[in-house]
Amino acid sequence: MRIRRLKIRNFRAHEKSEVEFNDGINLLIGQNGAGKSSILEAIFAALYMGHPSFPRGYLQANTRVNAKGGIGLTLEFEHDEKSYKIHRDTKKSELIEDGALIAEKSSDIARWVERNIYPIQVFTNALYIRQGEIEGIITNREIMEKVLRKVLGIDDYENAEKNATDVIRELKRKKDYLKKLIERKAEVEESLREAEKRFSETLRRISELRERERKLQGEFDEAEKEYSRLRSLKEELDKLEKEKAIIEQRIKAEKERIKDYETQIEEAKKEITELEEKAERLKDLEPVEKEYVKLKSLLSLKDELSKLSLSEAKLAEKKRSLEEKVAKVEEVQKNIEELEREEKSLRRDYEELKRKNGLYQRALQLTAEAERYRNELEKAGTTPEKLEKELEEVESAKERLEDLREEMARTREEIASLTGQKENLLENLSKLEGAKVCPLCKRPIEEHEEGEIKAEYDAEISSIEKKLEKLSKKLEKLRQEELKLREVIKGESRLIRLKKTADLLQEVEEKLSKYDIEELERAAEEFENTKARLIEIKRELRHLREELEELEKAKEELERVEKRLEEIGKEKAEIEKKLQAEGFGSFEEVEGRIKELEPAYREYLSLRNVPSQLERAKKRLASLEGKRRESVERLEGLRTELNVVKGKIKKLSEEFSLEAYNEAEKRYMESAKELEKAKAELKGAEELRDEVMKLLDELKVKKREIEKAEKEIEAVEKAIADMITFKEKVARLKAEEELRGLEEVQKIAGETFSEMTEGKYQGVKLKREKKYGKERIDLKVLYAGNEVGLEFLSGGERIALGLAFRLALSLYKVRNLELLILDEPTPFLDEERRKKLVEIISSQLRKIPQVIIVSHDEELKDAADYVIRVENVGGKSRVEVESLGAY
Ligand SMILES: Nc1ncnc2c1ncn2[C@@H]1O[C@H](COP(=O)(O)OP(=O)(O)OP(=O)(O)O)[C@@H](O)[C@H]1O
Ligand SMILES: [Mg+2]
Repeated sequence: MRIRRLKIRNFRAHEKSEVEFNDGINLLIGQNGAGKSSILEAIFAALYMGHPSFPRGYLQANTRVNAKGGIGLTLEFEHDEKSYKIHRDTKKSELIEDGALIAEKSSDIARWVERNIYPIQVFTNALYIRQGEIEGIITNREIMEKVLRKVLGIDDYENAEKNATDVIRELKRKKDYLKKLIERKAEVEESLREAEKRFSETLRRISELRERERKLQGEFDEAEKEYSRLRSLKEELDKLEKEKAIIEQRIKAEKERIKDYETQIEEAKKEITELEEKAERLKDLEPVEKEYVKLKSLLSLKDELSKLSLSEAKLAEKKRSLEEKVAKVEEVQKNIEELEREEKSLRRDYEELKRKNGLYQRALQLTAEAERYRNELEKAGTTPEKLEKELEEVESAKERLEDLREEMARTREEIASLTGQKENLLENLSKLEGAKVCPLCKRPIEEHEEGEIKAEYDAEISSIEKKLEKLSKKLEKLRQEELKLREVIKGESRLIRLKKTADLLQEVEEKLSKYDIEELERAAEEFENTKARLIEIKRELRHLREELEELEKAKEELERVEKRLEEIGKEKAEIEKKLQAEGFGSFEEVEGRIKELEPAYREYLSLRNVPSQLERAKKRLASLEGKRRESVERLEGLRTELNVVKGKIKKLSEEFSLEAYNEAEKRYMESAKELEKAKAELKGAEELRDEVMKLLDELKVKKREIEKAEKEIEAVEKAIADMITFKEKVARLKAEEELRGLEEVQKIAGETFSEMTEGKYQGVKLKREKKYGKERIDLKVLYAGNEVGLEFLSGGERIALGLAFRLALSLYKVRNLELLILDEPTPFLDEERRKKLVEIISSQLRKIPQVIIVSHDEELKDAADYVIRVENVGGKSRVEVESLGAY
């Protein structure tokens, strides 16, 4: 097997990696924890996931932490010149061989790999050496045994040996069988002779039985012919008898029918005579019917007449009530005229009253207005007179304020000037202190003068100060007065507004003085009364006019009623006239006559249907006569037919006799029974013959078989001998092969180990040993001419030996495993041994077609053909090709 490509998704630290592998030495290099071993694990998982010895829950345990999606592994490889691809993820698994799908179930794929590539034990022990497990193969004997057997092909030899044993057992069984067969030869021959004898006896019996059957058949045919002739005659006779009976039956029925028709014809004739008599009577009654009908229609006028009288009475009543209404018309008209007159006279004064009422309303408005103004002034606590005075006060305050302001200005000026004077004086006074010259007149001042001048100054200053005091008091007084005046002037706008109201009040009062209120009040009252009366009149008039209209209508109706009454009178007279024309004085007379006619009329009614009944009776008679004629004809025909049948019966009776028929039937039956018996016997004999014939065949076959077995048994005996020889040879070969294999492995492992230990150890010894009745393989190391056990070795040396042993297995030429995978082979090796390992890899491992080594040891790059770097970047593995190697 050679691995070509591996794709990994979400597996351990790998999110998405792809690694290509080449032939030769592939080195996966990188720091601790980079994800190198994971790549090897992925190869292993792709091949064996689903194998019974594969750990459960493997997928979950190895899914990358925080992965989006599940694990996906795709491994491409070659084996025995075919290319393969295994794909596995959480949803599907498939194994493809040269492009064709050959397995889909995870466990099927693992089983296929186990059978067709390498058993999982071989893969994990000889071919894929996990990190830290290098020495496992040499320390665990059981595994060593298993791997060696596989690698050396011992199992194949053992299989061949076992197969040979099976074949020998089978051949022996066959030989036994053949022997037993041959022993039965005499017995079979005896049976054969006996069967042949029985066969010829049976044949003779059959020919006798056939002769008898032929004879009986002849007799039977004859009896059958006679019997069938008589039977057909009998059948013919029976048929004719039946026909005869039917015809006789029909003749009887026909006769009865004719009799029936005749009775019916008699009855019909009688009925016709009766009906003809009745028809005569009907003719006599016809004038009665005519008169009766006419009188009935005359009598119907009686009802009409009474209806007319009734409506005449009703109309007369109506006429009276209408006449009453018409009489009222004049009275209503008079009322209307009176009201109209009153209306006219009221209308004359109405306009004047309306005008005065308008004035009265206006006066009421003005009174209310004056009241409002008065209230307003009262609320302000003033009167027009008071207002006048207050406004005058404001005016004079305004004038006074003007004067006041002037005076204040003057006073302020005065104060300012005095203040100036005072300051001057003070300045001069200060200049005077210590000065020898008068500050004003610039003349020299005597010492005594200084006091005088000072006193003068002081007097002047104090007089100014007094004036100033007076002036400021005055100014204060003026300011007080100004405040008061301002207060007065501030109320001016309110006063002006109230003055306007007072003016309006005056105006309104003047207007009001022009009205005569009492007179206007009276006129307004009259106006209201007149208006109410006018409305009433209008309503009354409307009612009266409506009434009048109603009454006018009554007048028209009265005319119509009168006209109708007149018509009714005419109609009544006409009816009377008709009665008289028929010769009757009254309707009672008509009723009397009708009563007289009643019985005859009723008889007429009862006979009215007679003519049609007569018609029908005649028709029926004719049809009955026709039917009777037909029946008579049919009867004639039937009689002729009967004669013909009778003639035929007579003729056949002469040919047929019942005794002869019964005799023939008996003979026929007996002969048939005998024939059947003979046939059954013949059949039995024939069956027996067939049986004997079959037995004969079987015995002949058996005899031939025995003759064949006599020849075959020699060949089987020879094959057994050959097979035994073959088995012995295989056992020998197995031993030889094992010996050779062990020697070869021992040689390669020994050389490699010796080289790695630089001759400290001279080689290894692999021996098959028997211990406690069990065979096993024993591994020893040569040290200074001695064979020593593995416990003799140091840890590093044990690893070196493990490596050497694996190498030897991989290089064993007969069962080349093609692939070797080593995960960290160097951890416990010192520098010297690592160097040696590089050398060994370069010289020895290159003999294996494909080697994959995982290491963080950069030195190994010197031995590699192809270097792949694995790094861990931020918790994710990254794989890239680093170089084609130094080699
Ligand atoms: N399920 C997982 N999800 C994410 N990271 C994982 C998971 N399982 C293991 N790892 C990480 O993968 C790394 C182990 O990978 P691996 O054993 O392949 O490393 P290595 O390159 O062989 O290292 P060493 O040289 O130490 O043997 C660890 O650093 C670990 O943190
Ligand atoms: Mg590792």
